Amino acid sequence: MNRVLDTWCERVRQQWGDPVGAAVAYSLCGPGKRLRPALVVAAYRELGGRGDPTELATAVEVVHTYSLVHDDLPCMDNDDLRRGRPTTHCQFDVATATEAAFRMVPLSARVLAAGAAKLGLSAATTGAIALELFRGAGTGGMVGGQVMDLEAEGREISREELVRIHLAKTGALITASGVMGALAAEASAEEVAAIRLYGREIGLAFQIVDDILDATATSSQLGKTAGKDAKQHKATYVSIVGLAAATREADQHIQNAMDHLTSAEVNLGLLGNLAQFVARRRN
Ligand code: IPE
Ligand code: IPE
Ligand code: MG
Ligand code: MG
Ligand code: MG
Repeated sequence: MNRVLDTWCERVRQQWGDPVGAAVAYSLCGPGKRLRPALVVAAYRELGGRGDPTELATAVEVVHTYSLVHDDLPCMDNDDLRRGRPTTHCQFDVATATEAAFRMVPLSARVLAAGAAKLGLSAATTGAIALELFRGAGTGGMVGGQVMDLEAEGREISREELVRIHLAKTGALITASGVMGALAAEASAEEVAAIRLYGREIGLAFQIVDDILDATATSSQLGKTAGKDAKQHKATYVSIVGLAAATREADQHIQNAMDHLTSAEVNLGLLGNLAQFVARRRN
């Protein structure tokens, strides 16, 4: 995974020059958890894929990283720490970080195309995977969720509205990751549907845990600024249902995720491990 990222970073630095190429490389090669690409690989493997999906999986990490760079900008969450280092706009400047993130969108399409070609996928499967990724990233998914998140700042919102925000800003890309892996493995429609339900549950759990960690962990544990949600008057699971209920609900969503796989007779294996990781993670 990191080797594939390094190769793309080298390529864009040569093609785009610095500082923007350096800002892309700095953002992509930071020590992230790589959960979304791990989900692509896990779904691909558990559904019988036998090739190397690493490059295809890298495409979703590129989209995710662009979302983090924009999320941290002063006009959004205004953060100065990410992945244990200065955020991209602090390390470079706002204009460079904004441009670097925008450039990662078409970059992710190039990475996806290369990854699909490496697996020898048909044009139809490649198209379905691209649609999945960019729908998850789009106005009905991550981008739309980020807009709703900003609009909800400082406002009292209902639990239902918060669930909609979390499913969109975070759940959609996590869901797309699993589905991309399943599509690449040429899984059946039933299996893809089960992975989609699984992704929705762990995606929601992931953001609930993110809210919990923001309220309970330290910045050095997280590698990003702790306690920011309360300071910025963000609606979070912790602010709406409290810490204990948030923890219970996250666990319930993880259980639901596993149940979806079990009822569709999909092997839990790596997918089960990742679901457990989402519940137990400490950063
Ligand atoms: C952070 O995602 C943004 C959210 C969706 C909560 P991650 O916690 O996966 O961030 P990295 O990739 O490990 O840095
Ligand atoms: C961000 O949610 C979701 C994204 C799409 C990037 P947060 O704003 O809670 O993520 P962190 O806590 O900054 O990583
Ligand atoms: Mg945010
Ligand atoms: Mg943020
Ligand atoms: Mg957060």
